[in-house]
Order: sequence, then C-alpha cells, then structure tokens
Amino acid sequence: MSNPEPILEVRSLKKYFPIRDVFSRRVGWLKAVDDVSFKVRQGEIMGLVGESGCGKTTLGKTIIGINQPDSGQIMFESEDIGRLPRRQHRRFSRHLQYVYQDPGASLDPRWKIRRALHEPLIIHTALTRAQRDERVREILRAVGLPHAHLDLYPHELSGGQQRRVGLARILTLQPRLVILDEPTSGLDVSVQATILKLFRSLQQTFDLTYLFISHDLSVVRMMCHRVAVMYLGRIVEVGQTRDIFDNPRHPYTRSLLSAIPQIGGRRVSEEFLLEGEPPDAGNLPGGCRFRTRCPLAEGVCVREDPRLRTLADGHAAACHLV
Ligand SMILES: Nc1ncnc2c1ncn2[C@@H]1O[C@H](COP(=O)(O)OP(=O)(O)O)[C@@H](O)[C@H]1O
Ligand code: SF4
Ligand SMILES: [Mg+2]
Repeated sequence: MSNPEPILEVRSLKKYFPIRDVFSRRVGWLKAVDDVSFKVRQGEIMGLVGESGCGKTTLGKTIIGINQPDSGQIMFESEDIGRLPRRQHRRFSRHLQYVYQDPGASLDPRWKIRRALHEPLIIHTALTRAQRDERVREILRAVGLPHAHLDLYPHELSGGQQRRVGLARILTLQPRLVILDEPTSGLDVSVQATILKLFRSLQQTFDLTYLFISHDLSVVRMMCHRVAVMYLGRIVEVGQTRDIFDNPRHPYTRSLLSAIPQIGGRRVSEEFLLEGEPPDAGNLPGGCRFRTRCPLAEGVCVREDPRLRTLADGHAAACHLV
C-alpha cells in the first residue's frame, strides 16, 4: 500500500443509548459501541463484521457524526472530529460519506439525474457550471452510466441504475473515507458481484478508503484487506483478512466462520458452532461478554473482561485463552 498512514483512528469510542421505563426514567444503558479502538489506513478496505445488533451501524454513524459519541476520539486525518461543533464538523463531512444499503432510494423523484448530481456541488463547492459538468461527466462514466441518463428521472431508471446514481451523488463531493453499510444485502448474487466490482473500481479510480460493514463473511473475505470482528459493542478480533479467515483466534470468530459454507478452505471444528442468540445488549454479562455462548469459557472469563491483545503483527484478539 502506497501510504500506510491511518486516515481514520478511533480511540476508546463509546456510544451508549439510554434505556427508559414507561415513565421515561432512565433505567440503564445500552452499550451499542463500548470502548472501540482501531485504525484504517489510507487506501485500505477495512471490513467490520458481526451479527445483527452488535453495533456496526452505530459505530459507522458515530464516526461520521450522525451520532454524538459519549466518549473517545475519532481522529480523521489527524484531527479529532468527534467533538467538533456542528459548523466546524461540516468542513470534514463532505470527505466522510455514508452509503446506506440502497443509496438510490434517497433520490428525489422530482429531480432529473442532472440536478441530483449538480446539487451537492452547488451547495458544497465553488465550482463553475463548466467545472461541475466536467466532474459529473467523469463520475457518471466511472459508475458505468451513459451521459444521456442525465436527462432522465429516477423512476425512468432500473433499481441497479438508481443505485449507481446514488453512488455517483456521493462521489461528486470527492469523499476520502466512505462507510458502506451492508451495501449488497437484498441483492441477487449476480447483481451483488457487479456492485462489488464497481466498489473496487471506484475505490481505485478515486483513491478511496472504505469501512465495509457487512454480516456476510464471504463478501468481506472477497473485498477487504483487513477485518474487525465485533461482538456486543466491542471489537473482539482484528487482523489481515487472510489471518482472520485462515487462522481465527477468538472463539466468536471461529464460531462465525464455522457457520458459513466452506468451499475448499479449512473447516472449523464443530465445537465452535454458534448457538443461541447474543445476550440482551442492555444487560451484558460480567467478565467476557461472549462467555454465555463460548464453548471454552472458564472461571477467569466470569471474573475478568478480556482486553484486545496483540498476538502477532497486526493480529489482535480479546480472549483470556488465546
Ligand atoms: N437510536 C437508537 N436508540 C436506541 N438503541 C439503538 C439505537 N440505534 C441502535 N440501537 C441499539 O444498539 C444496538 C446496536 O445496533 P446497530 O448499531 O444497528 O447494530 P448492527 O448494525 O450491528 O445490526 C442494538 O441493540 C440496537 O437495538
Ligand atoms: S475470554 Fe473466555 S469466554 Fe471469552 S471468548 Fe475467551 S474463552 Fe470464551
Ligand atoms: Mg446495521
């Protein structure tokens, strides 16, 4: 990788939601993101995996400022953007974009594609009409849409084309970090492959860095340079994609991997089949939060919360037994 500097560094980030009773009194905290630290390097595709409800979306939304963090730091290009007043945050926000499952769904049905793509540039940049035209043309080409589509309305496009316009709209602002949140869920496998290829080529064309959120491990394996595995608000393992898939160390990662069909590669032992649901995020077990489902749990796991510990270069896990 040409530039190994982190573009994003999250330090001890916490985002808790209040749990209220019927009288609106706070009776506890739901620890959606609970002391999360990691780095993403410039040009990297960093995967974030874990079961539904483990805090992936909350983490993504806190990074880009939709959620206010409760504590911790969000260093974007060496500036802590976690606590900036809204007006100052706006300086950074165009460089940090969040892509929802279907970015095409947010297009205004009354606007032609030309207007949808020019609008962000009018609001956020001082480009002239000719310069805007040039950028829109370049991006349209990059997302694989013909120029003639500029004169159409969203309803005149297919779902896949709308999705491409949605992506184009995000790219007009030249983001540096793009958070893709379950970008392929709900798509047919064949469409999924096309979209993943598009993400790859856009990443190279525009020198983007991705935080790629997914619960689909096979997609993450295909797309990401590194992977962070989340369980109930924590990162429990992080490493190079190859290390995570070929040599998973945390019992939770091993469980997740044993749940996906293995094509060729190593089969993870049956003892790691994941059973049951995660415990209530508003009422976490003491000690290791995976202990209620962990086949290896022992005394120390009840008493002590394991910290993320480096095992080898760039590979870390939070488990007392590894
Ligand atoms: N705005 C909110 N208010 C209260 N609880 C929330 C809110 N957003 C998410 N949560 C809770 O935080 C936890 C993590 O949710 P989420 O980040 O959406 O997980 P994921 O994206 O991994 O499925 C869940 O228990 C969810 O119910
Ligand atoms: S610390 Fe204990 S309970 Fe937690 S993952 Fe490791 S072995 Fe399992
Ligand atoms: Mg989510």
